[in-house]
Amino acid sequence: MASAEEASALAQRLSQLSTDLTAAERENLKFLLSMAAGGVLSGHAQQIPEEMRETALGATQHSLPKLLAGAREKFPTGVVFYGRAPFLSDGDLAALDHESRACRPGAERFLDHYVSSSAAMAREISISQPIRAFLNENVGPVAPTRRANYLYYDEPGLGIDPHVDKDEFSLNILTMLEHRASSPQRSELILHPPGQEAMHFHLRAGESLVFFADSVTHQRTRTVAGEEIRLVSFGYRTLGGTHE
Ligand SMILES: [Fe+2]
Repeated sequence: MASAEEASALAQRLSQLSTDLTAAERENLKFLLSMAAGGVLSGHAQQIPEEMRETALGATQHSLPKLLAGAREKFPTGVVFYGRAPFLSDGDLAALDHESRACRPGAERFLDHYVSSSAAMAREISISQPIRAFLNENVGPVAPTRRANYLYYDEPGLGIDPHVDKDEFSLNILTMLEHRASSPQRSELILHPPGQEAMHFHLRAGESLVFFADSVTHQRTRTVAGEEIRLVSFGYRTLGGTHE
């Protein structure tokens, strides 16, 4: 059997299996699958034959959206919105930009980037009425997790390897506040939707990407000298759409 068929059959079997799992067991399965996808994409499985790697990657990438179900079926790439978001005013963006700069000295290193969590303005804007209305209309009910992180990739070599986020960031609104670069080579955000070409995003200041961060593997490639990136990330937990 070709690896794509095998992957699809495996994904179907995992989806069937998940209907018998408790919510906690399903979370564990999701976590295992996302770790597996991230591992293969990061090149940590080079000792395994290529065909087997492809099958494993295909099975994990196809399984995650099946396990999450619900609104995600409308968005096969995991992307809900890309561009200048109607739910953020110029005033919101200016306030976030200001707070992001103010929070930089207190940001802590997390893996290969810097994070400042739960600043007051970011938290407040993450639960604003326009955002709640947009999400409700486009993806159905979501629970704000009050997770609002300022992210900084402002030294050479910072980035984040392919991964899938956990429940607090099931749905992620990622907004670029500033991307400065002194050379044409630039860090980019890459999404790896199952069975499709990778999607490369070069967000400009003020632009947002709304996507299902728990079902689509994503990464930020490494910054180069002279590059400074500041983002704000709002996390939401999607409700309904599980197998219960
Ligand atoms: Fe992420």
